[in-house]
Amino acid sequence: MTEKILVLGSNGQIGTELVTALRNTYGESNVVACDIRRPDYDIKNSGPFEFVNVLEKDTLNTIFNKYKPTQVYLLAALLSATGEQNPKLAWDLNMNGLLNILDLAIVYKTAKVYWPSSIAVFGPNSPKDNTDQFCVMDPNTVYGISKLAGERWCEYYHQKFGLDVRSIRYPGLISWKAAPGGGTTDYAIHIFHDALKKGNYDCFLSAETELPMLYMDDAIRGTIQLMDAPADQISIRSSYNFAGLSFTPEVLASEIRKHIPDFKLSYTANDPRQQIADSWPRSINDEIAKNDWGWKPEFNLSKMTADMLTNLKNK
Ligand code: SER
Repeated sequence: MTEKILVLGSNGQIGTELVTALRNTYGESNVVACDIRRPDYDIKNSGPFEFVNVLEKDTLNTIFNKYKPTQVYLLAALLSATGEQNPKLAWDLNMNGLLNILDLAIVYKTAKVYWPSSIAVFGPNSPKDNTDQFCVMDPNTVYGISKLAGERWCEYYHQKFGLDVRSIRYPGLISWKAAPGGGTTDYAIHIFHDALKKGNYDCFLSAETELPMLYMDDAIRGTIQLMDAPADQISIRSSYNFAGLSFTPEVLASEIRKHIPDFKLSYTANDPRQQIADSWPRSINDEIAKNDWGWKPEFNLSKMTADMLTNLKNK
């Protein structure tokens, strides 16, 4: 059967790269990019694009009816830092956007739905190191609350209606193609841009703030791997713990100095994102994803750093 894939939120940090990867695999005309904003040249000129607001159920219905998608990726969301500036909008978009898609997936018998969760589902009382799939979860950002509630809805729709919904708890995603989308982990992208442009970076998180991170190439590969896995290999229907790297700004700066020896890192105190970062794990235990469907990251810190710098320099 030919796949027909909708990617909602296609202009974002993940969508930009996922649409390209999916179009390479499934054919350009079979992957429909959807966003509320006009897309980049690449996305618009390599396949179909639709203006869609995931909160407008009528428009969504028209799109589902038009394409009868076999797979839907819902990426539209407000992230942790932006979410705190507009908590009600973050809740509305992250929650009702998801419910709209889950409902339409049932009506149109969509074979598979992908929805990303985040390390933001953990909170100040969750274990900090090698954080388990199942543990205390007390998120204190509206983003984390919406992701945790969303995970429960995904599992609920799977159990009640048999919907094949799959999800990954992404750590901070590091990429060079598209700009990051207002998260707490965004420093790990800005640092590369500033290192190349200015030779210094003023970091909004403190030197010892260790957070879980992942290079975008690994994130895209892992996501498609999860979506391709046979349904009987998927034991987690809320969202999988998922890990790649864990580092502090100081450690990342040392790695950058191997390429730009004079790179200087300074710190801004009292940024509100520090509090968010302090409530999240330092590292994640992703054994279940490894055992269930063979997840394995390919980028370590040195490989990721070299790749980021090379690509940003060429951009
Ligand atoms: N990168 C995200 C954020 O910082 C975490 O899911 O909000």
